[in-house]
Amino acid sequence: MRGEVTTDSQKVVSGTVFVALKGRRFDGHDFLAQAVRRGAACLIVHRRPRVSRLKQATVIQVRDTLRALGDMAHYCRKLVGPKVLAITGSNGKTTTKEMVAAILERATIKGERLRGKVLKTEGNFNNLVGLPLTLLRLRGGERAAVLELGTSQPGEIRRLTEIADPDIGLITSVAPAHLSGLGSLAGVAREKGELFRRMHSRGVAVVNMDDPWVRRLARAFKGGKITYGERGEVKAESPQSRGARGMEFTLRIGRRRQRVQMRFCGRHNVANAVAAAAMARVIGADLKAIRAGLAAARPFAMRMVLEKWRGITVMNDAYNANPASMEAALRTLAETGASSRKIAVLGDMLELGRGSAGRHRELGRQAACCDIDRLYLLGKEAGRVRAGALSAGMDSDRVTIGKSHRHIARLLRRELQGGDWLLCKGSRGMKMEKVLEALRETGD
Ligand SMILES: Nc1ncnc2c1ncn2[C@@H]1O[C@H](COP(=O)(O)OP(=O)(O)OP(=O)(O)O)[C@@H](O)[C@H]1O
Ligand SMILES: [Mg+2]
Repeated sequence: MRGEVTTDSQKVVSGTVFVALKGRRFDGHDFLAQAVRRGAACLIVHRRPRVSRLKQATVIQVRDTLRALGDMAHYCRKLVGPKVLAITGSNGKTTTKEMVAAILERATIKGERLRGKVLKTEGNFNNLVGLPLTLLRLRGGERAAVLELGTSQPGEIRRLTEIADPDIGLITSVAPAHLSGLGSLAGVAREKGELFRRMHSRGVAVVNMDDPWVRRLARAFKGGKITYGERGEVKAESPQSRGARGMEFTLRIGRRRQRVQMRFCGRHNVANAVAAAAMARVIGADLKAIRAGLAAARPFAMRMVLEKWRGITVMNDAYNANPASMEAALRTLAETGASSRKIAVLGDMLELGRGSAGRHRELGRQAACCDIDRLYLLGKEAGRVRAGALSAGMDSDRVTIGKSHRHIARLLRRELQGGDWLLCKGSRGMKMEKVLEALRETGD
C-alpha cells in the first residue's frame, strides 16, 4: 500500500487513508472535516458525511469500518506475503515478540539476510485496531512479520487470526487475566485456543509443554508442531541470575547447545526467550542468530526494566499485573536481589472478576513467602493483600497501605537506603509508575 492508513485524524497528512472508527469515547466520523483539511485522500466511513466538506477526498462507505480495516490489512498481508509469526497468551507477548524480532533481524534464511526486512508490532498494538494498522505498514520487501495478538473479549483472537493468517503461532500461557471479559480460566483457554484452531494447517504451532492448558489446546491443531519447555524440543538448562545484568542459561535445541546471556531478569523471561528461540527456529534461524538476538534484545518499557537511582536498584514492572505475572515478579525480586533488602510496591490486579479477593490474599502470602522486607500497597484490594501477608507471618509494621502514589513516594523516601532493591508493579489502570515518578521528582 502506498498511502498511510490511520484511524487518528491528527496523524493524517497529505495522501492518507482515514478510517473513521466509533470507539467508546470518540467517533471518527466527527473528525472527517479535520482529516480532509489535513489532506486525507480517502475516507472510509459507515455513516455518510456531509458532502460540502469533502473537497478532493474519495469516500468509501462500508457497513462496518472496523471490519473494513481488518479486511484491508488482510489483503495487504496476502499481497506482500511475509512469513507471519503470531504471538498470543496471557503473559509475555510483548517481551517474546521483541525477542523474536531481534533474533530474526540477525538471521539469514536460505542465504538471505533478514535485517531490515522484519515488521513487528510497535509496543502493544495488539487489538482489532492495532494489529491491522501494523499489517498496513507493510511496504513490500518484508520477509517476516512478528505480531502480538491480544484479547479481552471472546471472539477477538478468532478475528485477529483471520486477519493475520499466521504461518507460525505461539500461545505463551493460559493464566487468569481479563477474567471479567473472558469469564474463567477455561474461557481464557478457549479464547487463546482460537489461534491454533484457526491457523492454516500448513502452519506450525509453537507449544509450551510447561503449560497444561496450552498442551491441550495444541492437540486440536492438525499442522506441524515444535515444542518447548522442560519436556520440549527447545529448552533452557542451568539458568543463572547475573544480578541486575540479567540472566544466562544454556539453550538446547535437540542435541545442540548454546550458552546465552540476556539483559532480562527472572526465570519467566528465560521461558519467554525459549519460546522466542523455538519460534525463530521454525523459520530457520540458527543458534548463532538466536544467541545474538537474545543478547541484543532489551526489556520493553515498564516490563521488568532495571534502573539505578541513588544506589537503589529499581525494578520497574509497572506496565501490568495479573496473578501469574505478580508471582513471577516477586520471585525475580527474591532471586535477583537475594542478598539485599527487598521492597515491593504493589497496586491492585484489576479485571479478576469474582475471584479477586482470594487472589489478592494469595498475593500477600506470596510476598511473605518470598521474604520481601517491606510491602507498600495501593488500591481497593490492599487490605486483602495485607491480610494475606500477615497470615503468612509478615510483621504488621512491615506492611503499609498507601493513600496515593505520592503518599507512597514520600514514605519510600524516608525508608530507602543505598543497596535496596525496589519492585514496582500493578495493573495498567493502577498506573504504579507514578510512584517512581513522584519519587524521582521529590528526591532530586
Ligand atoms: N512468561 C511469563 N510468565 C509470567 N509473567 C510474565 C511472563 N512474561 C512476562 N511476564 C510479566 O508480564 C508483564 C507484561 O509483560 P509483557 O508486556 O511481555 O506481556 P503481554 O502479554 O504483552 O502483556 P499485555 O497483555 O499487557 O499486552 C511483565 O512486566 C512481567 O511482569
Ligand atoms: Mg503486550
